[in-house]
Amino acid sequence: MIIYFSGAGNSRHLALRLAQLLGDRAVSMESLWEEHSPKIELRAHEDLGFVMPVHFGGMPAFVHDFMSQMEVRHAMDAPLYVYGVVTFGASVGEWEKQFRDAVHACGLEATATFPVKMVDTYVPLFDVTNTEKNNNILKQAEKLIPRIAESIRKKAVCLQNETNGRKMNNGKMPHWMAKWQYKYYERARHTKRFSVEPPACQHCGVCAANCPTRCIEMRTDELLPVWTKEKCTLCLRCLHHCPAHAIRLGRNSKKHGQYPGPTGTQDKEE
Ligand SMILES: Cc1cc2nc3c(=O)[nH]c(=O)nc-3n(C[C@H](O)[C@H](O)[C@H](O)COP(=O)(O)O)c2cc1C
Ligand code: SF4
Ligand code: SF4
Repeated sequence: MIIYFSGAGNSRHLALRLAQLLGDRAVSMESLWEEHSPKIELRAHEDLGFVMPVHFGGMPAFVHDFMSQMEVRHAMDAPLYVYGVVTFGASVGEWEKQFRDAVHACGLEATATFPVKMVDTYVPLFDVTNTEKNNNILKQAEKLIPRIAESIRKKAVCLQNETNGRKMNNGKMPHWMAKWQYKYYERARHTKRFSVEPPACQHCGVCAANCPTRCIEMRTDELLPVWTKEKCTLCLRCLHHCPAHAIRLGRNSKKHGQYPGPTGTQDKEE
């Protein structure tokens, strides 16, 4: 079973491709976590995989919450193969340590982690308007997917590996810097940083309907989105999938563009 979380769509695409190659099922964390704490029932001989983006050098807040509450049930006859796949733009920072700790806290052990460089969706900093550059990055990622699937099929033990030319764990980033970076995530998650351009907004409600943390409401007379919680997980799904590109996060996000995942706007959560 492959459990994924995804904002713009990179990690979702990866989870679906791996599921296709492995003959496995890919399930979103949101669909498993409707009302109660998430329960994961594994079939006999099934592996347990997680796919997610890196956020500020660590796991997205949504994934931390999910993994700290999930219950995993599996047949005890053989050790469970647990792996994590992380999509990133520049550096995975502390992600592997956080992932292994989260798996350990559930009474399991992570056996393998795989980093995959994809388009960086953090548009307050990174520009996603160069389609050729994006396609080149995605082409490299696409080549890597069958290799990762093969490693999973063989139940390879690979922690802190170097599958994409980039070291896992801290990469080139010193440990203290990665820790500092993740601390900044807490500040960055404040939803007051979001705004909407009223003339551009088409009042469709897509942003509110698709937000994984249910923190957007269409509730003013003008039917403009309002962020109702103090913090969100900052996945940027609202920004990248807005059909009018009307959502802003900081001064530069408008000119840095929109990236609706490797397969376009249809690639959203079911
Ligand atoms: C809030 C936020 C923080 C991010 N932080 C990092 C980071 O620290 N390092 C990095 O390499 N990429 C970072 N990224 C880029 C994403 O990890 C990367 O684009 C990922 O593939 C997005 O996957 P998704 O489309 O499934 O959400 C960040 C993206 C967002 C939205
Ligand atoms: S998705 Fe975009 S256009 Fe639709 S309501 Fe939200 S901000 Fe407006
Ligand atoms: S408000 Fe936007 S960025 Fe924040 S969790 Fe919801 S969809 Fe993701």
